[in-house]
Amino acid sequence: MILTHVVACSQNRVIGAQGGLPWSLPEDMKFFRETTKGHIMIMGRKTFDSFNGRALPNRYHIVVTRDPSKQSFNSTESSPVVFVASIEEAVKHAEPLTAKWGDEVFIIGGGEIYKQAMPITDKIYLTLIHREFPGDTYYPEIDEKVFTQTERRDIETPIPFSFLTYLRK
Ligand SMILES: NC(=O)c1ccc[n+]([C@@H]2O[C@H](COP(=O)([O-])OP(=O)(O)OC[C@H]3O[C@@H](n4cnc5c(N)ncnc54)[C@H](OP(=O)(O)O)[C@@H]3O)[C@@H](O)[C@H]2O)c1
Repeated sequence: MILTHVVACSQNRVIGAQGGLPWSLPEDMKFFRETTKGHIMIMGRKTFDSFNGRALPNRYHIVVTRDPSKQSFNSTESSPVVFVASIEEAVKHAEPLTAKWGDEVFIIGGGEIYKQAMPITDKIYLTLIHREFPGDTYYPEIDEKVFTQTERRDIETPIPFSFLTYLRK
């Protein structure tokens, strides 16, 4: 299993504001959709809530919450949603599913989950927006002793940003 973060963050490391994204970048959303399609996604309960009650099509959702018994969701076969009590449990749950849903499992946030999952992360797809945004949720600094940047693609519109890939050394 490869554990990969997919994240968009601003120059000042902001990833969220008031439960949502502080920007609208259609090209980044397209990248997110194409990258995660058909795969397992692990996320925090607050990030799942930001989907406003809609599971994303053709993805297996594993939602981390301290009280899974409090949560419920009518999921479908093509977009399952399960609730688990820890990141470790999320990874264990994903393991036997990778044959069907792919060996690359995506950690899609938010701030709490990215931070806690960093030590077990193999790869990072970081969309770095070259602007500062106000917000209340942050992405941790990537330790350059641990990760090395392997790819970079610069985009200029509607605001300058870069698609970066990092791999654990
Ligand atoms: N820019 C991006 O790429 C991106 C990506 C994703 C999200 N976001 C943004 O980030 C914000 C949400 O991030 P967030 O940090 O506030 O929340 P989050 O990480 O999405 O979810 C936090 C919740 O996860 C559960 N949790 C966290 N650690 C846990 C653990 N060790 N064991 C069990 N459950 C655990 C808890 O749920 P319970 O309270 O239910 O116990 C906690 O309240 C939103 O603004 C969202 O739009 C941005």
